[in-house]
Amino acid sequence: MRKLFMAGNWKMHMTESEALNFVKQVKPLVADVTDKDMLICPPFPVLSRMQDALKDSNVALGAQNMHFEEKGAFTGEVSGPMLKAVGCEYVIIGHSERRQYFGETNEIVNKKLKAALNHDLLPIVCVGESLEQRENNETMKVIEAQIRESFKDLITADFKGTGADLAINDWSQITIAYEPVWAIGTGKTASPEQAQEVHAFIRSLLPKEVAQKVRILYGGSVKPDNVKELMAKPDIDGGLVGGASLKPESFAGLCVFD
Ligand code: PGA
Repeated sequence: MRKLFMAGNWKMHMTESEALNFVKQVKPLVADVTDKDMLICPPFPVLSRMQDALKDSNVALGAQNMHFEEKGAFTGEVSGPMLKAVGCEYVIIGHSERRQYFGETNEIVNKKLKAALNHDLLPIVCVGESLEQRENNETMKVIEAQIRESFKDLITADFKGTGADLAINDWSQITIAYEPVWAIGTGKTASPEQAQEVHAFIRSLLPKEVAQKVRILYGGSVKPDNVKELMAKPDIDGGLVGGASLKPESFAGLCVFD
């Protein structure tokens, strides 16, 4: 059984005081949640204070991005060891906004994924098709290429075959997020059936030893009032949520439903 996983991606929102206020309000609302893993990914400047604020809570801390190098002359970038040092357990990698606005390719995503694993960060690797690709019936082709290239060296040559031991161990650390670009921040959610179809396809691409264990989150306009029907699908194991993760009641509404 895969435990549901609700992850908030705050993007470029929340100053320090806003973030601390959020945590103060959300903690009691989700204090009794034991059937789901919960995560918040705030912007970098807030991470260190959030480490203290979330201590002794059941909400984990993650970052929205990282560089693949450990240190060096990369102005404006942040490395895996830096994220570890401020209490991050998770890191989002290859979000479509990183791909779209900051030129991240599958090759870069692959380097970041390996760096995250090397630094003991739990990566959440994002894939998803654009509206144009969906309308041209290219969804599965695009997703397959994103998975194949982003996970290069973690998936063996025959793709569905047996992986090397090291790669198989690494897979227990990995979460995948399917986020159709046309559904992000648009209010247009993929239907549970559309999402399920792609989730099952992604699972079919994973090495068979790990396929049933890897959590695949859905992202794209998930809200408290559509979360339940999405999570009812067999291959949807949680949500990566932007807008609806910014208000304490709304984040709690994603985590507390029956
Ligand atoms: P959204 O964003 O929930 O605001 O659509 C999701 C995401 O980009 O992770």
